[in-house]
Formats: sequence, structure tokens, C-alpha cells
Amino acid sequence: MATVISFANQKGGVGKTTTAINIAASLATIKKRVLLIDIDSQGNAGTGLGFVRASHKQSVYGVLLGTATITENILTTAIPNLHLLPASAKLAGAELDMLDLENREYRLRDAIKTIENNYDYILIDCPPALGMLTINALSASDYVIIPLQCEFFALEGVQQLLSTITAIQQKWNPKLDILGMVLTMYDKKLGLTKAVEDDVRETFGNKVFQTVVPRNVRISEAPSYGKPVLFHDFKSSGAQAYLRVATEVVNALEQKGIK
Ligand SMILES: Nc1ncnc2c1ncn2[C@@H]1O[C@H](COP(=O)(O)OP(=O)(O)O)[C@@H](O)[C@H]1O
Ligand SMILES: [Mg+2]
Repeated sequence: MATVISFANQKGGVGKTTTAINIAASLATIKKRVLLIDIDSQGNAGTGLGFVRASHKQSVYGVLLGTATITENILTTAIPNLHLLPASAKLAGAELDMLDLENREYRLRDAIKTIENNYDYILIDCPPALGMLTINALSASDYVIIPLQCEFFALEGVQQLLSTITAIQQKWNPKLDILGMVLTMYDKKLGLTKAVEDDVRETFGNKVFQTVVPRNVRISEAPSYGKPVLFHDFKSSGAQAYLRVATEVVNALEQKGIK
């Protein structure tokens, strides 16, 4: 049975998609069977893996609305062991389109249940909002990973995210747990980033992964090649950092008894 992990933060541009793609690629590389679900209408997880935008019939949108099955919409990628359930632009209207649906918080969870034995990990790249799409992702997840960009306002909004996670635990998914926080876009030339790191570690202690992901041009250019950084420049500091983060993820899960 797959372990389901969401990457969430209602702030945009903090590294959710980058972290989801690169942890997915790292896990696939160590021969884990991985499904990456892109639930953000911008579809960056799909483009970052080399796909052009999917039509809504071939996307998670149809799965949420009940007009398509998850199996028929899963794509194989250029990376062995890595599959993708893509997003489409129509997802932008999904919040409204789902208003009248029954069990609307559980649509993704119920779809995932039908395929969870095919994967070791199912990773969900969330949109920068705490609406119905993120609720679906978190209701379907065992764990959430929170990427935090190393900038002055890193912790802004985190309290709101934590309150949302608590609300989801209470209402829809009692097993949901925070696996960890990842510090992204770390620039050691800036004194500020060290101060932000200290602040985050002081506040959240061992919930923060040891590895910090550096700001690295290889990471930012990899999506334009349609590749995770691991397959764009394996030796880059960015690729190596994400491999270490993925190892920490596996270790954190092992500590919880999940192999
Ligand atoms: N460590 C990094 N170094 C350099 N650029 C990065 C890094 N992480 C992310 N980026 C770039 O920052 C932008 C935002 O990242 P993204 O993962 O799309 O954030 P989110 O999904 O939270 O909106 C993207 O253009 C991405 O390529
Ligand atoms: Mg994103």
C-alpha cells in the first residue's frame, strides 16, 4: 500500500513543485514505484517532467468530478518507476464545480484507494491556496511536507497552514501527520537566510529536515528541459541536496514503521 505525501504551503513560489518533482525522481531512482499527482491548475509538475498541458479529460480534474477514472489518466514518464497524474487549466474552476458534489472532500482519496497497491509512494503537488483542492490532497494523505523558502517572510502564513492541517485532522483525516519542513532556496551569501533557518529550527525543532536546498541555477533551469534536476545535472548542488532530502524522507518514514 502506498504512502501518500502532500507538498503544501498556501504561499506560491516557495518550492512545492520543485520539491515534489525532485523527491519523486529521487525515490524512483532508488527503484520505488512513484505516482506524482499534480493538483495545481498551473500544471507545473507536468511541464517540469516534459509534458505539454493536459486537457481536462486527461487530468485530475475529471477524476475529482467523477467523469474519468484515475487509471485511464495516469501517464508514464521518461523516468522509470515514475508516473504522473497531470493537472489541467480547468482545475482553476474546480472549487466551484465541486460545490454540489457529495463527499467532495474525499474525491481524491477515494480515487487513490483504487490504485494504491500499484505504488510505494504517491506524492501530491498542491496549489498555493487552502481551498477544496488542497483539502482533497490532505484528506487523501498520510503525511504532509511543508517547503519553506528561506526569506524574511518564511513563517508568514505557516500558522494558518498548521490550523488548516489541524482542522483537516479533526474533520476528515485523523491520521494526517506532518512529516517535515524543507528549507528551500537557501543562499549562504545572505546573512538573512541563516537567520531565517535559525528561527525556523528554533520554532519547529526536529520537524525541520537537516538538509537545506541551496538556491541553484541548475534547479531553476531543469524544468525548461522537462527534467528533474537529478536528470539534468546529477552532480549539481541542487540535485545532491534533493537526494539527501529524499533520504531523510525515507528515514523519517522508517522511524514511523513504514518501509
Ligand atoms: N533551490 C532553488 N534554486 C533556484 N530556483 C529554485 C529553487 N527552488 C525553486 N526554484 C524556482 O523558483 C520558482 C518557484 O518554485 P516552485 O517549486 O514552482 O514553487 P511553488 O510550487 O511553491 O509555487 C520556480 O521557478 C523554480 O524553478
Ligand atoms: Mg507549484
